[in-house]
Amino acid sequence: MDTVVPMTSAPRWLTDTEPGHSQWYISRFRDMAADGADLVGEARLIDAMVGREARILDAGCGPGRVGGHLHRAGHRVTGVDVDPELVDAARTDHPGPDWRVADLADLDLVDDDGARSLFDAIVCAGNVMAFVAPDSEAVVLRRLAEHLASDGVLAVGFHVAKLPIEQFDAAVAQTDLVLDLRLATWDVRPWRPDADFAVSLLRHP
Ligand SMILES: C[S@@+](CC[C@H](N)C(=O)[O-])C[C@H]1O[C@@H](n2cnc3c(N)ncnc32)[C@H](O)[C@@H]1O
Repeated sequence: MDTVVPMTSAPRWLTDTEPGHSQWYISRFRDMAADGADLVGEARLIDAMVGREARILDAGCGPGRVGGHLHRAGHRVTGVDVDPELVDAARTDHPGPDWRVADLADLDLVDDDGARSLFDAIVCAGNVMAFVAPDSEAVVLRRLAEHLASDGVLAVGFHVAKLPIEQFDAAVAQTDLVLDLRLATWDVRPWRPDADFAVSLLRHP
């Protein structure tokens, strides 16, 4: 199993969860998949926003449900997560993408020719931004911006009870990214100030 030594303080996913939480999370999604649950709504929106065979980064990929679907849709997918147990599950359950263990706060992906890896879309689904290390949201967003193609889109979804939208917007303001569109759901319901969920589509200016 891979190990990772984060350069910043540790993500809340690793510090604020109970022992066994990772295996619980893996089992939960395996059970939902076995029951035929729709687990790819986020991936469908990403698929609609990019051309075919796009380069896509599943940032905070967990056990791989989003990146796995995008791979099966024909895209070139890299998935990164700080939790080695979840990345192992992604490799087992969704073979095909390039699944890696890394902290998004230190993200440094390069292609075989040594050039920075650039993605047409980066997706942060499932409250990833609420689980990064405290006060590292801007650091993480800047690392993701470094990996976003000039006309690419970074899609970030989270419950606003877990991460206040003002805190997220303050982090965005510390990057070179701009908010292109905000939705209240991954199935494209319009944003409202009283919405409990936010999907923010960020781009380079
Ligand atoms: C609730 S899970 C969502 C997983 C997946 N995106 C999904 O929707 O199924 C949150 C994920 O964020 C990951 N995560 C949190 N902080 C991270 C960081 N700094 N670098 C990489 N992954 C991180 C956790 O390891 C965990 O897999």
